[in-house]
Amino acid sequence: MENRAYSTWLEVDLGAIENNIKEIKKMTTAQVMAIIKANGYGHGVLAVAEAATKAGASWLGVARIEEALNLRAAGIQTQLMVLGYTPPVMIPEAMLNNIHVAIYQREMAKAYVVHAKKVEGRLKAHLKIETGMGRLGMAPEFAQDFLFEYKNHPQVEIDGIFTHFARADEPQARSAEQQLEIFNNLLNALRKAKLCPPMVHAANSAAFLNFPQTHFDMVRPGIVIYGLDPSPETKVPETFRPALTWKARLTSLRTLPAGHGVSYGSIYVTTKEERIGVIPVGYGDGYRRVPGQQVIVRGKLVDIVGRVCMDQCMLQLDSVPDAQPGDEVILLGRESAQAITANDLAKRWGTINYEVVCGLADRLPRVYYSS
Ligand SMILES: Cc1ncc(COP(=O)(O)O)c(C=O)c1O
Repeated sequence: MENRAYSTWLEVDLGAIENNIKEIKKMTTAQVMAIIKANGYGHGVLAVAEAATKAGASWLGVARIEEALNLRAAGIQTQLMVLGYTPPVMIPEAMLNNIHVAIYQREMAKAYVVHAKKVEGRLKAHLKIETGMGRLGMAPEFAQDFLFEYKNHPQVEIDGIFTHFARADEPQARSAEQQLEIFNNLLNALRKAKLCPPMVHAANSAAFLNFPQTHFDMVRPGIVIYGLDPSPETKVPETFRPALTWKARLTSLRTLPAGHGVSYGSIYVTTKEERIGVIPVGYGDGYRRVPGQQVIVRGKLVDIVGRVCMDQCMLQLDSVPDAQPGDEVILLGRESAQAITANDLAKRWGTINYEVVCGLADRLPRVYYSS
């Protein structure tokens, strides 16, 4: 693994991602759509796309058409779906690149037809149903008429139907069961009317883990692919492995005299002679400008002192007398007995592990390996 060229970088274990997809496949007979939006949850979308496909994901899901087009431009041939909104003018591009889009409103479908006429063939789309998420989706009572209208349509082929859960990570809330009942009632009516599209899907990671009855023809796991927990109530099984480590190099190490301010605003002032190190990581990388943070140096947890800057922050290194400039520092990951997880960073930052990894800046080099 070549990282000498970098001062801070992410190490992504593609073996972990492959392992996690294989674990998912052991737990279901459904197809797997690996959710790789937002740069593969920060892990680097192309490498994740390749690893997920290699391990058996037959579909890849993204949020936006640009993400899908970038994957096609990079040579990814796996079936691709845009889960969010696709602007009508982009429909010809979607068709030319064999990308499925989501439809969730009649007017949207009409606009898509206009643009689909510009190229040969039929636009492939999955119909999204509102069952309780309150985000995107056609109300179930309109779905049957809509599917009847688009049956054998010359420009649009609706070959899938899906929904999304709001609270599948809270199994005791009964919310997922209620959403599932609404979805199942619709599916039963559609089957009776011979209007049910061939691909049915619903399960995000939490539903995949907590509710096997939501697997249908395909599951759509995101966070568990990366080996991370869907929520504090819904943990990823132990056979899954986290893929991400964030490292930086100690770029300076000095002894500052007592009474010396550290970083903007001098909110930290040395109380004695102190060994203060610098790592080239800041909020410009997706690290947060909050107090009370720690990193791992030579197997020990040390404090970040003073304000986090855009590209750098300072460490109190009195407890690591053998630290040297050039040492590897771990911001997220493990070394010897110490670990800092995405959950730990989420707690510090008052957010969820999803936001921690999705917020990792593009400028951070991703270094790939396989264990
Ligand atoms: C429609 C849809 N399906 C699946 C997922 C994957 O969710 P998770 O990462 O919780 O598995 C997402 C992500 O938010 C989504 O928006």
